[in-house]
Amino acid sequence: MTQKQVEKLLQEMSVEEKINQLVQLTGVFYKAGDVVLTGPELDLNPDKTVISTAGSVLGVYGAKELRRIQDEYMKKHPHHIPLLFMMDVIHGMKTIFPIPLAQASSFNPDLIKECAGIAAKEAAVSGIHVVFSPMADLVRDARWGRVMESFGEDPYLNGLLVGAEIAGYQGTDIAAPGNVCACVKHFAAYGAVEAGRDYDTVEICTPTLREFYLPTYEKGIQAGAGMVMTSFNTVNRIPASVNSWLLRNILRNEMGFKGVVISDYSAIGETVAHGYAQDEKDAAQKALEAGVDIDMMSPAYMNNLKALLEEDSISTALLDESVRRVLELKNQLGLFENPYKDGDETKEQQLLLCKHHREIARKAAVQSFVLLENDGILPLKAGKKIAFIGPYTNNKEILSSWAVTGNPEDVVTIKEASKELELFSEARYFSGSPVVDNSYNLEGFVGKAPKNIPEEEQAKMLEEAIEGAKWADVVIMPLGEHFLQSGEATSRVELTIPEIQMRLFRKICEVNPNIVILLFNGRPLDIRELKKSARAILEVWFPGTEGGHAICDVLSGKENPSGKLPMSFPYCVGQLPIYYNHYATGRPGEAGQRYHAGYMDAPASPLYPFGYGKSYTNFEITPISLNTSVMAADSKIYASVLVRNTGMKAGTEILQLYIQDVAASVVRPVKELKAIKRIELKPQQEKKIEFVIEKDMLKFLRQDGNWDAEPGKFRVWIGNCSDTENMATFILSK
Ligand code: GLC
Repeated sequence: MTQKQVEKLLQEMSVEEKINQLVQLTGVFYKAGDVVLTGPELDLNPDKTVISTAGSVLGVYGAKELRRIQDEYMKKHPHHIPLLFMMDVIHGMKTIFPIPLAQASSFNPDLIKECAGIAAKEAAVSGIHVVFSPMADLVRDARWGRVMESFGEDPYLNGLLVGAEIAGYQGTDIAAPGNVCACVKHFAAYGAVEAGRDYDTVEICTPTLREFYLPTYEKGIQAGAGMVMTSFNTVNRIPASVNSWLLRNILRNEMGFKGVVISDYSAIGETVAHGYAQDEKDAAQKALEAGVDIDMMSPAYMNNLKALLEEDSISTALLDESVRRVLELKNQLGLFENPYKDGDETKEQQLLLCKHHREIARKAAVQSFVLLENDGILPLKAGKKIAFIGPYTNNKEILSSWAVTGNPEDVVTIKEASKELELFSEARYFSGSPVVDNSYNLEGFVGKAPKNIPEEEQAKMLEEAIEGAKWADVVIMPLGEHFLQSGEATSRVELTIPEIQMRLFRKICEVNPNIVILLFNGRPLDIRELKKSARAILEVWFPGTEGGHAICDVLSGKENPSGKLPMSFPYCVGQLPIYYNHYATGRPGEAGQRYHAGYMDAPASPLYPFGYGKSYTNFEITPISLNTSVMAADSKIYASVLVRNTGMKAGTEILQLYIQDVAASVVRPVKELKAIKRIELKPQQEKKIEFVIEKDMLKFLRQDGNWDAEPGKFRVWIGNCSDTENMATFILSK
């Protein structure tokens, strides 16, 4: 439709039709069979007019089902306006890729774009129009279970990957076949919830909000995201979903966002519980005034906008502003001409989980793995007797609690994949223990809670595992969190692997010292005990549908791991929040030094820092060479190093450029990532790598509210981890 036709439609719509375009309901109200419920069950009781004229539906998918719903709906709709179908496609639709935190470990925006492009194609043929992804929340506290959905603790890396993911989802035109509309979430600063408690208060000063948290969302807006979702938390003491300063001043006026704003699940109604809105009606008014266009699964809009309009508390113009944006999004997607867009049962059969998609999922998993420890035991040598011992040995539940459209049955487990390799022809397999012990309550989460294993059966599992370890030359232990222990509403105060698995680990250590850990988790964990005794630790996160193949590719040496941590691994939970780009304080220092910014009973540094990850080979990086040590205000500096692969295996290194403004009008982080480069080197091969340092990299949010650089001394590091000491200095002149 033309814009004029959209306007004409808008003018023809009744008040009820307009209001209900701003209502989003789950598929439950459309008699959908398989509905993914991602929030509390609410007794909304929408009347049938709301159901028959609501603007959008979440939580259902499948070409056939969505065509049925669309057909029934449009027949009844007075103006035959099509529904928008939205879904949490967080890291894949049917072909499930590694969790976003794992994908971030690849430090590879091109790969993330490729994965998102496949997810979009699979979602599109399944009838989906909008995906609730990327999650752009910066995270610093692993007690918050949703770190698994994020791209980690660094604003630069986050922004790079958010932009790449949106490009993958949307392509250059969301109406084009195989593209979907992306939704940047959760605006804003949801990752800063106090003490990692989900849905809790966010207390950060506005400069910190602007300097560390907002830039990633802005990268999403700049990448052209069609939708933004508000967050559950308050920002400066006002819930985000009713926060005009956040949604109008910043999102729309400063960032220039013109698309649709949707609330998070029931978030508008929850502003009453926050103690902000007097009641649901007040909440509805404040949310619409703030520019929230769609009320996801709360009764606020459906029950109150008409009365607000009739009493002139809101204007028709305000209502039309939101309805227009919803109609415009439907029009951009081409739904008025083709309400099914790409939904196609035949293509669904051909495309979902096809060979190529699995190959990319396998590649993404390999690149997401981070080798944390290795004394040379990996890659595995031929002819060794190998025992796999751990609850993830043959476990298909390695997708994640957000893989809500994925199917564990499609997963290739470690055991299944190993059967394809001669290396494991003698291997033996033992679960050794359940993932969590029977007392751990995982009820009520998206996904099936684990079934209890009787104590006597557990004892037998342990005994058999110990015998297996005695037999083996090398023990591979796939251990980790249960997939329902990370994701939404999974905040934890202890970051350890379930005790029942640690008991197994200790028993195996008693009989065999040659242990390799495969770590399955959605967040950084406290793995000090594993680090003490294991000869190798490979972080595999929740690796997705092709996890088993990818793990065997790395264990066998077919693939050389190259991943780097996108989030610091704490020494212990007491260190949280911990992140590399912190301020120096007046007393920086380390454990053992009195009067330093640290602890008496723990180091101040993490167990593994941001950007850390080993390889099966070694890379030597020469000292930095600068083409000049003085940067004129409008010039650049060229910083280069030579990188040499001094080992016997080809490998990929991820070079990281960090910068510190040594002294400025406000304190600056001890270092900030400003650029990355992935380089592949054959054994003994050497390459010169050059970074360009530009003035934009030196800018920060000054006290006057402007982003600018200040003359003075800067340090620059180039290395393969945030703790690199390969440093040079330069001056930015006036
Ligand atoms: C959930 C999540 C959000 C998700 C939405 C729809 O509560 O916070 O990330 O997209 O509801 O499922």
